[in-house]
Amino acid sequence: MSGVRHFLTLHDLSADELQALIRRAIELKRMRREGVPHEPLRGRVLGMIFEKASTRTRVSFEAGMSQLGGSAIFLSPGDTQLGRGEPIEDTARVLSRMVDVVMIRTFGHETLERFASVATVPLINGLSDRFHPCQLLADIQTYVEHRGDIRGRTVAWIGDGNNMCNSYINAAMQFDFQLRIGCPDGYRPDDALVAKAGGRVEVMADPMAAAKGADLVVTDVWASMGQEEEHQRRVAAFRDYCVTPEMMAQAAPDALFMHCLPAHRGEEVAAEVIDGPQSVVWDEAENRLHAQKALLEFLLLGSN
Ligand code: CP
Ligand code: NVA
Repeated sequence: MSGVRHFLTLHDLSADELQALIRRAIELKRMRREGVPHEPLRGRVLGMIFEKASTRTRVSFEAGMSQLGGSAIFLSPGDTQLGRGEPIEDTARVLSRMVDVVMIRTFGHETLERFASVATVPLINGLSDRFHPCQLLADIQTYVEHRGDIRGRTVAWIGDGNNMCNSYINAAMQFDFQLRIGCPDGYRPDDALVAKAGGRVEVMADPMAAAKGADLVVTDVWASMGQEEEHQRRVAAFRDYCVTPEMMAQAAPDALFMHCLPAHRGEEVAAEVIDGPQSVVWDEAENRLHAQKALLEFLLLGSN
């Protein structure tokens, strides 16, 4: 078990390792564009457990493993013994003997921690209710490609203090940028995490103030997976938190807009913004592929 590295949050890698991983992701993207064959994971298998829906995460991991010469297996609770109550620890022990790396998308973050506590192969968090670290790898890669180093820049998070927002707080610590979170009372991110980030993170109720002068404006859905029945209440609570052209005008003139997707035009973001010239959401989505290939290489083969 010793020596195995997991990726449950951005804190599982050092700041230097994360920087190297982003550089490697950019390099892997270039190699793919140039048609350079690169199959270092030939014969390796990724097991993917999805307890929630996914388009980007599933396709990027599955395509990524295939491009690296390996393969991936899609597992869902409905088709496995997990759905019939087999403990996650037993599942971890069995999968560890059959596959080389595992990715889990689940609800409670402790499910990932329980799996990792007994797994003898690396575990990747493909999204939990608390964190979505793979998305941050893609977001940082996208920022670097468009604007260079994110260190010292200002990022505005607008909307729900959810798993993506918590991951941005971790990113502010690891990549050393300022984060302003504009969110309504009652939907603030994890207080302990905000405190841990110290002066790098500020939480405020006024979204226009959060966006002011920002180099990057980011938002996400108002109701995450598992919160569908709260949708109406959340639409009312977040009414003033739509990223509109007026809000983007508060940000720096060359500010970028990102959204992890799927998006709801007319709710958390105006169509003119997500489909406009400052939006880099399609590069951001594509970079899930390259960043996770770099992550798989790192976890399976060692440092990049
Ligand atoms: N952004 C993201 O994780 O998308 P999916 O839910 O489609 O995987
Ligand atoms: N906050 C969203 C992210 C989806 C990729 C959710 O958890 O549903």
